[in-house]
Amino acid sequence: MSKDKLIIFDTTLRDGEQSPGASMTKDEKVRIATVLEKMSVDVIEAGFAIASPGDFEAVQAVASVIKDSRICSLARANKKDIERAGEALKHANASRIHTFIATSPIHMEYKLRMQPDQVVEHAVNAVKYARKFTDDVEFSCEDASRTEFDFMCRIIEEAIKAGATTINIPDTVGYGEPAEYGRIIGQLMNTIPNADKAIFSVHCHNDLGLAVANSLSAVNFGARQVECTINGLGERAGNASLEEVVMAIRTRHDLFTVETDIQTEYIVPASRLVSSITGFPVQPNKAIVGANAFAHEAGIHQDGVLKHRETYEIMRAQDVGWSDNRLVLGKHSGRAAFRARLEGLGYKFQSDDEANVLFAKFKVLADKKHEIFDEDLQALVSDVVESDDGYQYVSIEAVSSTGKLPKATVELSLKGEAMSATSEGDGPVDAAFKAIESMIQTQAELKLYSVNAITEGTDSQGEVTVRLQRDGVMVNGQGADTDIIVASVKAYIDAVNTLNNRSEKAHPQKGGV
Ligand code: KIV
Ligand code: ZN
Repeated sequence: MSKDKLIIFDTTLRDGEQSPGASMTKDEKVRIATVLEKMSVDVIEAGFAIASPGDFEAVQAVASVIKDSRICSLARANKKDIERAGEALKHANASRIHTFIATSPIHMEYKLRMQPDQVVEHAVNAVKYARKFTDDVEFSCEDASRTEFDFMCRIIEEAIKAGATTINIPDTVGYGEPAEYGRIIGQLMNTIPNADKAIFSVHCHNDLGLAVANSLSAVNFGARQVECTINGLGERAGNASLEEVVMAIRTRHDLFTVETDIQTEYIVPASRLVSSITGFPVQPNKAIVGANAFAHEAGIHQDGVLKHRETYEIMRAQDVGWSDNRLVLGKHSGRAAFRARLEGLGYKFQSDDEANVLFAKFKVLADKKHEIFDEDLQALVSDVVESDDGYQYVSIEAVSSTGKLPKATVELSLKGEAMSATSEGDGPVDAAFKAIESMIQTQAELKLYSVNAITEGTDSQGEVTVRLQRDGVMVNGQGADTDIIVASVKAYIDAVNTLNNRSEKAHPQKGGV
């Protein structure tokens, strides 16, 4: 039986980035988009171009680098947003403008302060205007799951007449229940006279833990695009997780009448990359990508799996990118092997110079840590300082012994100028952060400090995330090293540099159109 194609629309770089603290730089977005492209994601929503100059540049950069996936920018239903999206997407091989307006009574009355007729007018004008920039326009009824059915039919029919090619029915607040939500999608498709002129899409939030179930139910009722994110990242409790949607459809191909083009072996590398860039760890028991997802702790399970894998495993770990032989490189590995392995993880080198810098860092790490795993390589790449303009880590000396106050001396440089300071603190990390603050007075508030061992064993690199907030802007910094104090200082400096380059940005779903 031939199956319908299910379009996978990834919004890690847009809705995922709306998770507090998950903001990404332009280069980080390009790196994630590169892995998504390798994975054969159909549509990548790269951002909300009007949010800030940085967001505009990030959408523009993703649109110029990525060739095989369609690149999309979000725009509220107004001319300025749409123009900005169109401009950012100018160089895309294939582009999409995704415009939206809220349609539920509560959103129309309290957020938009508009009458339903005005909302329809805005939607129609927005779709028509977006069609001037691209012939691929998606229209979303924000808060669709709490929208009156007849009104939704009316606005969707008008949006399709105006030129929308995809109609998205978001469960914005995660209120949907699988049977009901799926039925609504089916009823919309059966009731709206021109429904056959557009692809119906779903975008589910996970407030009740039902985002994937709602998405799959909608697929059974005719939706042919699912919007999702790596690791289920996204506003509040997140979005439907790409890996769960894709693997459910693949594993239960006996039930679903659709298939995706996703190259599933890139799922784990993408998950790790998103986690290391955002600093959002993946819970060990997370389906598909959690560290325990394929670990069979219980003796009875191990016994069964050893006798016959399928006794307890419904998927193969290798199919989603977990490799059995996770030791990949060592001290004697050459440049070609190093390059090939990183490319295998979806990394695209921008130049030979970049490859040389990374290879030199790899050699330093391999001297300290004899076994280099995929996770180490990803941390190495994440740890590269993106510009010479900001503060650079030079050295740290930390002393901590029983009965004495820990003390740290940190040396930094700014545009070639050296600076150093010594402070005491509650622990060596606290002392190091105080030393940095005494030099550069960021006025920022530390919102999160987390350390994660990248691999197993006490020689593992520690990956540190530092989240700082200043004037309503929240950013993450990452650092990795076999010495966690060094990793902490690098993460702090990374966060400070990011904060200094970031201005406040507009949130697409707050305020009016
Ligand atoms: O959740 C939502 O409604 C959205 C829209 C902008 C599609 O993210
Ligand atoms: Zn959303």
